[in-house]
Amino acid sequence: MTPPIGHDRSCLAIVLAAGEGTRMRSSLAKVLHQVGHKTLVAHVLTAAMQAGGAQIAVVVGPGRDDVANEAKRVASQASIFEQRERLGTAHAVLAARKALEAGADDILVMFADTPLVRPETLLRLRAAIAGGAAVTALGFRPKDPAGYGRLVMKGDELIAIREDKDASDDERKIGLCNGGLMALAGPSALKILDRIGNSNAKGEYYLTDAVAIARELGLKATVIETDEDDVRGINNKAQLAEAEAVLQQRLRAQAMEAGVTMVAPETVFLSTDTKFGKDITIEPNVVFGPGVTVEDGAVIRSFSHLEGAVVGKGARVGPFARLRPGAKLGEDVHIGNFVEIKAAVIEDGAKANHLAYIGDARVGAKANVGAGTITCNYDGTNKFHTDIGAGAFIGTNSSLVAPVTIGAGAYIGSGSVITDDVPADALAIGRGRQVNKEGGAARLREMNEKKKKDRG
Ligand code: UD1
Ligand code: MG
Repeated sequence: MTPPIGHDRSCLAIVLAAGEGTRMRSSLAKVLHQVGHKTLVAHVLTAAMQAGGAQIAVVVGPGRDDVANEAKRVASQASIFEQRERLGTAHAVLAARKALEAGADDILVMFADTPLVRPETLLRLRAAIAGGAAVTALGFRPKDPAGYGRLVMKGDELIAIREDKDASDDERKIGLCNGGLMALAGPSALKILDRIGNSNAKGEYYLTDAVAIARELGLKATVIETDEDDVRGINNKAQLAEAEAVLQQRLRAQAMEAGVTMVAPETVFLSTDTKFGKDITIEPNVVFGPGVTVEDGAVIRSFSHLEGAVVGKGARVGPFARLRPGAKLGEDVHIGNFVEIKAAVIEDGAKANHLAYIGDARVGAKANVGAGTITCNYDGTNKFHTDIGAGAFIGTNSSLVAPVTIGAGAYIGSGSVITDDVPADALAIGRGRQVNKEGGAARLREMNEKKKKDRG
């Protein structure tokens, strides 16, 4: 992405993550909930960094180490500030006073519960500041403006932002609303913020008052408009699901734009970090958990669930396959219906086409794992490894009791329970020998009929 503004401008992003929404009904902090398998605060931090926010300040509530740790994980350079009392958005911004004093050209104030803001939108805010505004608000036109701050305009100029509770009846009719995020020019930011008071309906220090104060100081306030999705705040589980739906649409569109074929994109669920190569086909009803890479030419068939997995070039997965963390499929591997793979490397050209569990294992190149094969990796206490050599053939319904090694080219007879290593190219059969008794079936039936009669 090329910023529409000079690279020489420095940018501080202040992410407000204090002030818990109580309507999530969860023991997890609101901003640690996820959309696209990424926390809300991580989405906001990523957008800030993509828009050139090299300096990051995160304002957290008292004792919120969990939020601070997540912020540090995503943006190690972030400084963390605590807002001890929840006295309003301007008060929260001033909790990061030290970061403001360090001086930056552009300051972005962002809300950690507004995860879908796009870096492009942040860059437009920064461009407005670079263009001479002291304050730039992010406006949008919701279907129902109730509850939002209203943007009071005079021509192109932004005169004030009036919070819903403080607005007059006429002001409440204004359709252009405040999205919440805001950009401030670094040199005047502290002067403006320090003048914000709390004489309003909520008794809070409103960040939105920055607009009127900037004008009193003879500075310029402007608005850029965006669509509702950019400023979608999350306060409850229903809004979390709505944000997820919007994000999924964006991720699907990005994947298709990059050349992925999806037969029914609305039924495919992606993660923010899902990676696709070229010429990939995804059939309907596939779920990608976090950490999946799909390489060129692979086909993911219906009803498959993938998580923490690599699907190699030209591989085929599903229908109804499950790839769990650590599943690494090489080139042209086939993983068929009702096959589960966990922490296992499946080398080039190997196949497990039906009904199998392969966990803590290596399956060598071109090996064939028959239906019903299980790697018995767990004894109830410890996990053990199974190693299957290249070109081995595992007959159907075999139990491979780990730790165990099947040599290259070995052949396991169907229904075997394999507890000892099998040398390369050996044939191993580990099951009861079959006995045929002539006329035995007839004698058995006669015996059973007699028992039935005797019982009356
Ligand atoms: C804010 C805007 C409003 C806008 C709306 C958009 C203000 C005064 N009002 O209202 O104009 O239409 O967003 O959704 O800015 N926070 C803190 N500490 C505090 C208070 C808030 O960290 O003391 C954080 C919250 O966690 C949240 C964000 O700031 O992430 C916004 O606060 P919130 O109370 O949701 O503001 P709104 O009333 O929604
Ligand atoms: Mg809000």
